Amino acid sequence: MANVTLRNVRKTYTGGFEAIKGVNVDVGDGQFCVLVGPSGCGKSTLLRMVAGLETVTGGEIDIGGRVVNQVEPADRDIAMVFQNYALYPHMSVFNNMAYGLRNRGMKEAEVKTRVEEAARVLELAPMLERKPRQLSGGQRQRVAMGRAIVRQPKVFLFDEPLSNLDAKLRIAMRVEIRKLQRRLNTTSIYVTHDQLEAMTLADILVVMNGGQVEQIGNPLAIYEKPATTFVASFIGAPPMNLMSTRTEEIKSQLGGSAGDAGILGIRPEDFVITDQTPAGGVALPLTVEAIERVGAETFIYGSRAQDEQRVAATPGELPPGEVIVRIPGTEAPAIGQKIRVGAIRSKLHLFSGDGRSRIEA
Ligand SMILES: Nc1ncnc2c1ncn2[C@@H]1O[C@H](COP(=O)(O)OP(=O)(O)O)[C@@H](O)[C@H]1O
Ligand SMILES: [Mg+2]
Repeated sequence: MANVTLRNVRKTYTGGFEAIKGVNVDVGDGQFCVLVGPSGCGKSTLLRMVAGLETVTGGEIDIGGRVVNQVEPADRDIAMVFQNYALYPHMSVFNNMAYGLRNRGMKEAEVKTRVEEAARVLELAPMLERKPRQLSGGQRQRVAMGRAIVRQPKVFLFDEPLSNLDAKLRIAMRVEIRKLQRRLNTTSIYVTHDQLEAMTLADILVVMNGGQVEQIGNPLAIYEKPATTFVASFIGAPPMNLMSTRTEEIKSQLGGSAGDAGILGIRPEDFVITDQTPAGGVALPLTVEAIERVGAETFIYGSRAQDEQRVAATPGELPPGEVIVRIPGTEAPAIGQKIRVGAIRSKLHLFSGDGRSRIEA
């Protein structure tokens, strides 16, 4: 068991590209930390530095109170699970899990104890003599995790381990991984680009963008109070609606200093269809452009009458002037209909004009 601390960690690749620009993260003993962000933001680079597979350009990586910058991967007491978890096809499940331990010269009796214990935890015990091709995708992924578990490391590192699985299996495995981590209580760092996976797995969530940390904290706290418009539109699906506060329509409703903030954010689920303007809140007239019924809820895509100026360029952002409203059930207005949607004051998020800071009104 160990905590992992990153202190002002930097990485510049040969050729001069700065992939990690000073990252500080503190993962407590037994905690599950998730690094989330769009493709190319530096998640794998950071994880590989913790693993010792990439050199560290600046700062310190500390595992269990020991700075490991110069320590070989094999001596860091970590185990890594990758997206491509290539098992040895000609070896049984047992031998796949035992391989790394035998390579380290572990006594066969101890190897057997560890593999059987991991197989029990992962519910692979009846399959130990099978070859990988005789397993389902989910079972193979569990064997890959078994290889990490038998090492009894201080820290687990996961790099998008579920990305190759179909949607249904991904959800099942997500739950499995969380249960497993709770049972083993091993400090873990998990990389994903999937915000839902991140929200559901993390004790501490680290939202990354362009080699830097945008926000770090409890996942629900981040959802409720995103620090930047990047985080606001990356965490949550469909994304938060973002609009300028400086149009007459919005400015007059917000009033005072809020009207000068720059950017207003409202989550799709925080709108209701109403003829009234909620006290202190904001109401918008919309023309319904499209409807998506997904069963338990319905997404309404509306356009605002006035031409909205573009306020931010972040992944998952809506086109200017488009507003998504998320309502429970299947009853929805017709396409082309004009509606009014409103949100109460406590559901409004305000950001500076550049989207880099949150403003508490
Ligand atoms: N070996 C390398 N040499 C140069 N640039 C790299 C190398 N590996 C990754 N990068 C760059 O560093 C950035 C971060 O990559 P990566 O950590 O793989 O991102 P992520 O895992 O978040 O998708 C990307 O722009 C990528 O092109
Ligand atoms: Mg990656």
